[in-house]
Amino acid sequence: MNTETLNHTIQNTQFYKDVIAGLQASPKHLQSKYFYDATGDKLFQQIMDCPEYYPTNCELEIFTQQTREICASVIADGSPFDLIELGAGDATKSTHLLRYLLQQKAKFTYMPIDISANTITYLNAALPAALPGLEINGLNGDYFDMLKKAAQLSDRRKVVLFLGSNVGNMPVAEAEAFCRELRSHLSTGDRVLIGVDLKKNPKTILAAYNDKQGITRQFNLNLLTRMNRELNADFDLDQFEHYPAYDPATGSCNSYLISLQQQEVHIGDTTIHFEQDEYIFMEVSQKYSLKDVKALGTEAGFETTACFIDSRHWFTDAIWQAI
Ligand code: AVJ
Repeated sequence: MNTETLNHTIQNTQFYKDVIAGLQASPKHLQSKYFYDATGDKLFQQIMDCPEYYPTNCELEIFTQQTREICASVIADGSPFDLIELGAGDATKSTHLLRYLLQQKAKFTYMPIDISANTITYLNAALPAALPGLEINGLNGDYFDMLKKAAQLSDRRKVVLFLGSNVGNMPVAEAEAFCRELRSHLSTGDRVLIGVDLKKNPKTILAAYNDKQGITRQFNLNLLTRMNRELNADFDLDQFEHYPAYDPATGSCNSYLISLQQQEVHIGDTTIHFEQDEYIFMEVSQKYSLKDVKALGTEAGFETTACFIDSRHWFTDAIWQAI
């Protein structure tokens, strides 16, 4: 394909449209969902293995040490339910719950929802092999479209898993709207198990987003590489610097890329101008207090019936019940 046809094809993609809208805005920003190409997936796996990145270990500790109590909240009165997971990934954490629920002879269907078709195909095949007797119905698509579908598929009560502090990737106002919309897809009595990273010593948080090996730095810069490859862009990675910042006053850990010089970058047919020291806002990882978590639930129409917390009090998995 010649450059003209190529750029034409590229410019019709949602990725391109989102990138250009974000980089033509002031301040410049990109959407963190675009981090996760094949390399981004691998880098995120490596981040989770970094000694500084505590959230995964905290949530795993909660799931392994408090399995019985968590499952009791999920099983509730023992009536059959659909266990719906938003953004299941490889389901490492939920596997602990699934195994225990099966042992307890709980009557449920596991419905992982993921935007990646690969993930769903993999889970539909791999999980029943690892967990004999598991009923699984993976749904590939947008969270809320698939929640609608799940409601149509059965009228059993719903338990929704939203783990890993993925809610933190939304600014607070957006998270509030998201939780309200989640509530609108549920019925009174339905439950949500939501994993949230808690406010803690600012140095601990900052270190988790600024690991010594520089994996988070690579993860952040990888979005530039992805744009170079997929959008025919010419970002010079040496001219952008990873800059994470945690603000204890608001609980937001923001990550930025800083332009090290005045420069012009081409993306398809579009030219973007950067001033020296201008930033691109890349991602928020919002931290909450326990009180904030309860308030977030209340505001969306849920009552918090339990908060499971790790031994260091760094992370919580809360149970919200729809009122
Ligand atoms: C996948 C959104 C939970 O914000 O902690 C990790 C993503 N970014 N390091 C987080 C992430 C940089 C992660 N979440």
